[in-house]
Amino acid sequence: MQIINTIAELRSVLKNQSNVAFVPTMGNLHAGHIQLVEVAKQHAECVVVSIFVNPLQFGPNEDLASYPRTLEADCGKLKTAGASIVFTPSVEEMYQDFDGINLNQTMSITLPSIANELCGASRPGHFAGVATVVMKLFNMVQPSIAVFGQKDFQQLFIIKQMVKQFNLPINIIGVDTVREPSGLAMSSRNGYLTDAQRASASQLNSALQSIIQSVMCGNKDYAQLELQAKSTLNSQGWLADYISIRSSLTLLLASSTDTNLVVLGAAKLGNTRLIDNLTFNI
Ligand code: PAF
Repeated sequence: MQIINTIAELRSVLKNQSNVAFVPTMGNLHAGHIQLVEVAKQHAECVVVSIFVNPLQFGPNEDLASYPRTLEADCGKLKTAGASIVFTPSVEEMYQDFDGINLNQTMSITLPSIANELCGASRPGHFAGVATVVMKLFNMVQPSIAVFGQKDFQQLFIIKQMVKQFNLPINIIGVDTVREPSGLAMSSRNGYLTDAQRASASQLNSALQSIIQSVMCGNKDYAQLELQAKSTLNSQGWLADYISIRSSLTLLLASSTDTNLVVLGAAKLGNTRLIDNLTFNI
């Protein structure tokens, strides 16, 4: 496994590779990321994993500074998992197109209004930051396949749209969320939780599960189900951001005739913001 820090070296190493599978990450890898590598390996012999904590997708009061950076451990896990290349550029390398690094001057991708809903409503500019770095990484790696986790359902939706609308020749694959036995979706941010918080962190998943049960029993008052789930979470000590039942095909608010659905949620437990989602069909 090669560890590469510069775009020039990456390009030169990948020059003769016609089939590359790519897994973009921000590091602090857990079993969910390793699953993405496993899926990537099924599609190509050459698997590139990027580790880059992208400043552009963090808001001013978010956890950019404290985001866990565990490069050595990550590389160990990726070697065991069978990745071919770890691309780990510095911020300067990624955003060096200016005299000095001025992230405010970085060109970015303008996204459709769906990017301002759900997580985008409480994290303004987040998805533009994600789309911009992913577009840059795609241009550097030039993969035929890129693998993303379904846990970030809205992110995956936006990346798929970006690839379609910008005609990028990349097959985007979404991989099921890997969960703790409690149901808690694996996330690098779970590391912020105290033991007590971790013990109750699966309540977010339970809230989504109960919505699905109610819908399956015929309740189509989605707004009421969302409100009820939020208030249950708040009474359990969370600060619910949103719980939303949407079409899994368009990510628009679900109507009573939609049959492919996803219920998404985001809520804070202490200072830690967790997200989760479940897709289901009726
Ligand atoms: O999902 C993530 O880890 C990040 O948003 C991504 C896709 C690597 C872009 O920075």
